[in-house]
Amino acid sequence: MSKSNQDIFKKISAFRITHSELIILRFKCCYGIIKIFNRKRSDYVKNFIGAKNILEKKKKYIMPCLGHFYKEPPQFVKGDMQYLYDVDGKKYLDCYAGVSVINCGHCNQEIISKMIDQIQNLQHVCNIYLTENFVNLAEKLAEVTPGDLQKSFFCSTGTEANEGALLLASIYTKSSEFIALQSGLHGRTKLTMSLTGIGMWRTDPNPVGGINFAPNPYCYRCPLGKKYPECDLECANKIEEIIKTATSGKPAALIAESIQGNAGIVVPPKNYFKRVKEILEKYNALLIIDEVQTGFARSGKMFAIENFDVVPDIMSIAKALGNGQPISAFISTAKIADTYTRPGASTLGGNPVSSVAGLAVLDYIENHNLMKNAYERGEQLKNGLKELAKRHKIIGDVRGLGLMIGAEFIHTDKSPAFNELDQVLEQLKDRGFIIGKNGVGRNVMAFQPPLVITENNVNEILNAIDLVLTENNF
Ligand SMILES: Cc1ncc(COP(=O)(O)O)c(C=O)c1O
Repeated sequence: MSKSNQDIFKKISAFRITHSELIILRFKCCYGIIKIFNRKRSDYVKNFIGAKNILEKKKKYIMPCLGHFYKEPPQFVKGDMQYLYDVDGKKYLDCYAGVSVINCGHCNQEIISKMIDQIQNLQHVCNIYLTENFVNLAEKLAEVTPGDLQKSFFCSTGTEANEGALLLASIYTKSSEFIALQSGLHGRTKLTMSLTGIGMWRTDPNPVGGINFAPNPYCYRCPLGKKYPECDLECANKIEEIIKTATSGKPAALIAESIQGNAGIVVPPKNYFKRVKEILEKYNALLIIDEVQTGFARSGKMFAIENFDVVPDIMSIAKALGNGQPISAFISTAKIADTYTRPGASTLGGNPVSSVAGLAVLDYIENHNLMKNAYERGEQLKNGLKELAKRHKIIGDVRGLGLMIGAEFIHTDKSPAFNELDQVLEQLKDRGFIIGKNGVGRNVMAFQPPLVITENNVNEILNAIDLVLTENNF
């Protein structure tokens, strides 16, 4: 800030500004705003290296395990609530939110202003020293999470939160045997990857032992070849068989996503988790619910497990908690959490800036009624997609809760239509819509947009999909 501006601001703070100084200040503000708006696109563009150069550098300097979406990927340079902008100034409606992270919208001013204020005052000391944001956030999490979940441990990623949740279950039960669901995904560390039930994400050639997988509740392609409800939840009942036949009889816990994200938005039947919990309780095993992808209003409830009327023993949270700022946690009841007494700390866990982001996210969700919007816009999108499925046979199934919706692309013999989905996603991107992809067969169109999207946005998405499917004769 120039010296003359500093003088004026000092006078404003002291209420000693004269009329003429106020006019000068107004002029300077207007001039600044005009300067920003008049910035030529070429000025803007030349500051970025562009998609082609990024791809070249990526190939040379980034490990090849990291893929990217699209044959012709854009370079994104700006985000504003539900919109993204590329290096050429092209605007996109974001329907994936950085994989379920940006629930409150990109660069949400209400959230980032609180973070900026924190950054300018105290960025980091590690929570072995006393700061207040992390305890305030833990208190707020105890309020918004289901049942008697009360004590948190903060870390930075979803993987870490799951790893910690599993450790806590082992400490409490004194067992290190686990059960997970087929097609679930829980992270990239040795243990969380070993508990991941999708071949594509199981890179480690020597996974951890003591793990068994139960069939996932994927009614559209039931792994047991059954039909709900006549099946009487055989997939859940199998868990008891697994405990009896494949474990010592005392597994530490079962870990599951409340809605399986990477599996292709697999929503279990309403009574599934109740049955699972009953079985686990019989064997004193804990239920760990991974809310990394489903948490923070996405499903129309604060946490997706609340749609199933079950309280987990331990819950892991990440992604949307920071709305882009790295923060994660696992939370448990006081009884279970209080067994974790040996030293444990995470350098960046509960960092003042990340914690303030978490607090601001929870305030924003509450103040802007995002659970209601997620539910209402989710119903609108789901019903619209179901209508499209009647005319476009390539859409075999539409499923989801709130704004976590999947549309499964199939051929006439029900085999996964992944090439066709890639084609459709590329064309939608060219039309200004960023939509995600998941599913074990990579054939599920995934909608996980910022929860601030409007009725009009949903109509635009549906019209664009209709148009692209029609053009391709799908
Ligand atoms: C359900 C679930 N759990 C855990 C993870 C791992 O989270 P992170 O990538 O933050 O480590 C992911 C990542 O997508 C996820 O979807």
